[in-house]
Amino acid sequence: LLAQELKKTVVLVGMMGAGKTAVGTAVARKLGVPFIDQDDEIQAAANSTISEIFQTYGEAFFREKETQVLARLLAGPPCILSTGGGAFMSERNRDLIAASGVSVWLNAELNLLWARVRYRDTRPLLRTENPYETLKTLFEARTPVYAKAAIHVSSFSNYSVDDMANAVIRAL
Ligand code: S3P
Repeated sequence: LLAQELKKTVVLVGMMGAGKTAVGTAVARKLGVPFIDQDDEIQAAANSTISEIFQTYGEAFFREKETQVLARLLAGPPCILSTGGGAFMSERNRDLIAASGVSVWLNAELNLLWARVRYRDTRPLLRTENPYETLKTLFEARTPVYAKAAIHVSSFSNYSVDDMANAVIRAL
């Protein structure tokens, strides 16, 4: 995949808080290739924040935009692409990714994810009575689906972003 140049887009998948954006940015910098954050692209295309999109149009609309943006980005030149945590849940999206990219699951324990997301209020799905339980439910439902990714890389609390980026590059 890495011989001379990036041949396929590397698509980082995994839960909120797994480090997809931070690790993706570091991988792209190390390899000297472009980095794209799918959620940023959705926000730019809709000219509003993820929270506003959820609030105004609902999750189903967000998921449609997500698939459209994913398809557009995968049709472009190879890059490092970080997705939102739900993007890999749809079979359609998994097929799009398998067709022109390589999926990399950043796998982290629930407690580590919680430690990272608990003080942020940027995630509409976690605006519930009990955000820990919500995260846990998503984690349990999604883990078997993330496991379908082509490459698995585990994140531990003592790993830095740099360690994770090196682990991803070694795995490619
Ligand atoms: C979502 C994760 C978010 C964002 C949206 C939905 C999810 O991205 O796409 O809030 O379904 O897990 P991050 O994984 O970057 O937080």
